Amino acid sequence: SAATLGGYSDFMAKEIAEQPEAIERLLAGRLGEKGIHLDELSMSEKDLASIDLVYLIACGTSYHVSLIARTLIQTWAKVPVICDYASEFNYEQDVIVTPNTLCVIITQSGETADTLTAARRMRGMGCKVFAITNVLGSTAARESDGTLYVQAGPEVCVASTKAYTAQMVASALLALRLAQARGEMDAAEVERHYRDLCAIPDLIREVISRSWQDKRAAAVFRRAHSALFLGRGVNSTTAYEGALKLKEISYLHAEAYPAGEMKHGPIALLEPGFPVVAIVPEDRVHDKTVSNIQEVIARGAVCVAVATDGDEAVASLVEHVLWIPPVSDELLVPIVAVVHLQMLARAVARARGCDVDKPRNLAKSVTVE
Ligand code: AGP
Repeated sequence: SAATLGGYSDFMAKEIAEQPEAIERLLAGRLGEKGIHLDELSMSEKDLASIDLVYLIACGTSYHVSLIARTLIQTWAKVPVICDYASEFNYEQDVIVTPNTLCVIITQSGETADTLTAARRMRGMGCKVFAITNVLGSTAARESDGTLYVQAGPEVCVASTKAYTAQMVASALLALRLAQARGEMDAAEVERHYRDLCAIPDLIREVISRSWQDKRAAAVFRRAHSALFLGRGVNSTTAYEGALKLKEISYLHAEAYPAGEMKHGPIALLEPGFPVVAIVPEDRVHDKTVSNIQEVIARGAVCVAVATDGDEAVASLVEHVLWIPPVSDELLVPIVAVVHLQMLARAVARARGCDVDKPRNLAKSVTVE
């Protein structure tokens, strides 16, 4: 059954390995004559086209999905997006919504108390609520106007992996659907983006086949007490998620920052041997992040970089490279790059003797406030 280990040593390993198939299931049959199907939204073309604000609400790893979703929706569909942690949203005094605000809650379990409370508040304000979830018939699904099930299969490991990548792909489908309804993309463009999404499962398979790189890089964290994750643009989110994974399962303190913000504070942390993980794929901000890598190395930090195949400039600077194959659309890199950080966190946690599936103090779904 889906909830047995099936030859893997832990559920985290199994769930990391399941990501390509999960994304394939989610994408299958989504492109037709009329473009992207997302009937789950249960909204008319006119209502979809008139959405003037998207409010994304989530917690933890699902909140990181919302940050990627924001970029995709704003870039592709040209609708303004607000992201909020549910626990913050629930106590904000004044929430500004427009008559055509769509609220999207993102929740793997569909049972996170803070997220459910936020959705109820949004409905109370007259907003349509759409849920992106992994659990069939969950409270989030039952209480929403529409639900997109990501169909990643049961996620047992407390640290979310396959739900994260699948929810990002689901968000991309939503962004394409909105872009289409609003006339921001023609059929050929929608199809091109869909094909880019369909290439992701094989790219993830390739990354998974390179897990030896993460095992080797884990040595850098052996005597560490803390680590800094840096990335720019969409990959600042990859840095946040990589740091969260490391904290959750290895109990190593990790902080993530947009790379350009480092000079405004966190640079003071750096000293010889301090581990820094930099996400520096081939993209429009690559050279800027390379400069940040030079700054951390100049202070004696030990750098592990996630970089694109063939990037000798980065390889010559850093201690270890976690290589990713080229990704056709740089906005989709986070879905591929994060897989290395999942495997890195797992390798560090195992080297430190931690139970990767059941970290202390954490529950799989947080059903209390
Ligand atoms: C992820 O690794 C965490 N265990 C946690 O942040 C989780 O993503 C968060 O509690 C939200 O859960 P949900 O997606 O089920 O709502």
